[in-house]
Amino acid sequence: MEQNVTLEPRIIQLPKICDPRGNLTFVQDMDGIPFNIERVYWTYDVPSGESRGGHSHREAEELVVAVSGSFNVNIFDGEDWSTFLLNRPFQGLYIPAGYWRTLDNFASGSVCLVMTSTIYSEDDYVRDYEEYKRMAASGRRGDE
Ligand code: TYD
Repeated sequence: MEQNVTLEPRIIQLPKICDPRGNLTFVQDMDGIPFNIERVYWTYDVPSGESRGGHSHREAEELVVAVSGSFNVNIFDGEDWSTFLLNRPFQGLYIPAGYWRTLDNFASGSVCLVMTSTIYSEDDYVRDYEEYKRMAASGRRGDE
């Protein structure tokens, strides 16, 4: 997946229909999203102080949305860490393949919705941090 190597994590603005009855955001037909959505999952009831993620994906690209509450997504590319605070239901964090991520600092009641480009496969995960760092150091982050 050579084309993913130059892709960077970034915030994507999603449509927001403002309405005095309550706001609405949607995703359709890959509009503004750089991959085909094959799967959607969400995490919720995350206990205070807990951390999720702790892995990289070889192929899967993801768009992470705080549909409720707030949390941090910490991204590591093998050299540098960056942290994105997600707290707006009309913004998604795009994470290309090949980036290590952890999610933490969940506010009570937060819901983390993730749209992803592949169906679930454990083979797509790199879960060993030392292995990930070795892969990154040798120019392979699992996304080739
Ligand atoms: P994992 O991806 O490690 O969770 P997170 O990154 O949010 O902390 O998945 C946790 C468990 O759930 C693991 O046993 C795999 C399983 N799982 C599925 O069966 N299907 C899925 O779509 C996902 C995302 C996870």
